[in-house]
Amino acid sequence: MSTASPMPALLPTYAPYPFPLVRGEGDRVFDDGGQAWWDFYGGHCVCATGHSHPAVVKAIAAQAASLLFYSAAAALPVRDAAAERITAFAGMDSVFFCNSGAEANENALKLALLLTGRKRLAAFEGGWHGRTLLALSVTDDPKITEPFADQLVPCLRLPFGDLAALAAADFSDVAGIIVEPIQSMAGIKTASREWFQALRAKCDASGTLLIFDEIQTGMGRMGTPFAAQFYGVRPDLMTSAKGLASGVPMGALLMTAAVASRLKGGDLGSTFGGGPLACAALLATVDVIATEGLMANATTAAARLRKELTGSMVTEVLGEGLLLGLRSAHAAALKKHLLARNLLVGGSGDPTVLRLMPPLNVSDGALLALITAIHAFVPEQK
Ligand SMILES: Cc1ncc(COP(=O)(O)O)c(C=O)c1O
Repeated sequence: MSTASPMPALLPTYAPYPFPLVRGEGDRVFDDGGQAWWDFYGGHCVCATGHSHPAVVKAIAAQAASLLFYSAAAALPVRDAAAERITAFAGMDSVFFCNSGAEANENALKLALLLTGRKRLAAFEGGWHGRTLLALSVTDDPKITEPFADQLVPCLRLPFGDLAALAAADFSDVAGIIVEPIQSMAGIKTASREWFQALRAKCDASGTLLIFDEIQTGMGRMGTPFAAQFYGVRPDLMTSAKGLASGVPMGALLMTAAVASRLKGGDLGSTFGGGPLACAALLATVDVIATEGLMANATTAAARLRKELTGSMVTEVLGEGLLLGLRSAHAAALKKHLLARNLLVGGSGDPTVLRLMPPLNVSDGALLALITAIHAFVPEQK
């Protein structure tokens, strides 16, 4: 005899779209009725190579058939190749593979505390870094941080992109400072190249480790491999996840040789991190980004949106490459209007900013559909 549970089997987290998805292809997803949706949300900035890219699917299938899993207890050629490939792509020296963005940030922050012996972290107003305890310590989102206020590590919080505030801050007891090079959830906020360079110089002067959270900005999305190349600043530690393996769960903590040389075996570890399936997906992802010109496509698509949305109810296009914000006084109504025209876009913490984080191979057809729908948007008069 079965007793009905008062709770759904799947614990609710986000409010989902009002239709289940069953298939994806390139820049579109399909619901259970066969309806196609242009995907400018990318499963939350994950689907860098588009949905079910044939080269990624082939690499995953081949790896699954030969060796589905072995932990770091064994050396795996596919893991070594993935490490070579991602460090070269990111311009860093060594990588530790894990499984998610929060895990990559948690380990980056933990290393900063370990290597400096300092007890305080630093981050920026509006920053979002994940839901584990160190990641929460540096995240500026009171609704998820406040219940744990007593358990969090002290964090110095500075305004993002503010040169004067940076110059005035005291970093002498700060272990590490973490920054999203483009603050995504905060509403696609950017800072100047000059500010990033000042941040690097300040960290050098104080012995504070600079951590770039490139979980959204990396993997070609800004038109360069990572934001580090875009701004010409090399951090000590860099985290990646989301687009890293085209949707196979994977996180990476990339670091300089100076950091890596100070770690000893056992400082970091993970059972599933660097599993062969994720490594095969990473290799295929970097190949597709490079061989199909996806970074150039990100830059071209952004330029087209900037130009062709002029004169619409979108008053400003924020961000770089395909991490974009559309500012509109009518953002919520615009999001609804786009959904009714089979276009998926994201919201943000700023009620006047919608986010676009589509596959990097977003097509001209998808861009035209979005531009046309935005120009057709007329807000209701109150
Ligand atoms: C900038 C940034 N950092 C960290 C995270 C956490 O990543 P994950 O959800 O994989 O733990 C996210 C997730 O949205 C993010 O956008």
